[in-house]
Amino acid sequence: MQKLAIQGGVPLRGEVRISGAKNAALPIMCASLLTADALSLGNVPELHDVVTMRKLLQQMGVMATLEAGAVTLCGAQVDKLEAPYEMVKTMRAAVLVLGPLVARFGEAFVSLPGGCAIGSRPVDLHIKGLQAMGAEIHIEHGYIHAKASRLKGARIFFDIVSVTGTENLMMAATLADGVTVLENAAREPEVVDLANCLRAMGAKISGDGTDTITIAGVDRLHGAEHRIMPDRIESGTFLVAAAASGGNITLTGGRADILDTVLEKLLEAGAHIRTDGTSIHLEMAGRPKAVNLRTAPYPAFPTDMQAQFMALNAVADGSAMVVETIFENRFMHVQELRRLGALIDVEGNTCMVRGVQQLEGAAVMATDLRASACLVIAGLVAQGETVIDRIYHLDRGYEHIEAKLSQLGANIRRLK
Ligand code: EPZ
Repeated sequence: MQKLAIQGGVPLRGEVRISGAKNAALPIMCASLLTADALSLGNVPELHDVVTMRKLLQQMGVMATLEAGAVTLCGAQVDKLEAPYEMVKTMRAAVLVLGPLVARFGEAFVSLPGGCAIGSRPVDLHIKGLQAMGAEIHIEHGYIHAKASRLKGARIFFDIVSVTGTENLMMAATLADGVTVLENAAREPEVVDLANCLRAMGAKISGDGTDTITIAGVDRLHGAEHRIMPDRIESGTFLVAAAASGGNITLTGGRADILDTVLEKLLEAGAHIRTDGTSIHLEMAGRPKAVNLRTAPYPAFPTDMQAQFMALNAVADGSAMVVETIFENRFMHVQELRRLGALIDVEGNTCMVRGVQQLEGAAVMATDLRASACLVIAGLVAQGETVIDRIYHLDRGYEHIEAKLSQLGANIRRLK
């Protein structure tokens, strides 16, 4: 089990390049199943989850080449219509092969995702949507077995906004017979990035980025080239780390237009922010002010930034309420922050955080991807050394994080 050791108290300074978005790359890699032609992807982040997804697709017969941020996938010889439990249990996004497999091959065997640290995270909306499109679905031995001679266009209403649910059904609808309308669809930028890639492959999609997406099915899709959008959560994570540590950083290769609520909260915390095109500059003089947060689907405040801001609030001037409305158990980082001296009370899906002048370094444990980012930020501002265990969680979603933080002056090293 690898660990990260951080000597805190160093304000982050300098420039860092933002990588491609994990949550755009994963669904877009699955889109390769929708065509026999080659799909060439640029700006793909070198993340554990991307490697896992590539292995899963290769196991199914997709040819995949990976070199320095570029991935080329070709679904000409897919001969295994299955996403096995051992793959799905480590990466819930593997469920994204379901829609494409049923759409192009008429059948799929996809393991139900186990629960995960941040909640039960069912896939009932994915299944309901495919059934509405005419798929016959049986749950047997922990697997979703879906069959359809040809999916038919349908009107599908999501009673809960689901990012991968929207993505799975949008992909399935591209090859269906007729028009599909997804209502109460997810509006996340990663959904739009997937739609852009699918359009480049010949799909007929409109309304992505709004809560109503219309897809007119076509007979086949062709290959394309697509550059993955920058990762808005990685951007937000570095900006919060700079604000919490009283630093001064510039992000390059990012996008400010998809970070409105995060930038708004950082301004409220007292940061000075300047953006132009693809670079974002943040400077924080002194201690941040506490900021109240309430997570909700895009364009509201992202749940994937909640843990990071909790670390900022832990050392901020004042108290803050943090309300998590998306997942039922996304406060696993609280007990670890308490080990560093944070004053946090939890009541259901609400936390009250009272900022302290100083956190004290300690040994802590990562429990999920964004909780581990929270502990890194806390370690950067704590007095003394913080050692974070189980950092494989971190490697799932952040490319070369200790190299990037060292570049910004952090005193951080990986312990084998
Ligand atoms: C995506 O997960 C992201 N993952 C998550 O990012 C992100 O936290 C989440 O969206 C919310 O923004 C990827 O895109 C790969 P949901 P997803 O379906 O699609 C419930 C990270 O840190 N729900 O939008 O799995 C569900 O339980 C990860 O990068 C159902 O009830 O999330 C949750 O409470 C973590 N039934 C809510 O909806 C369903 O069929 C939102 O989940 C589907 C979802």
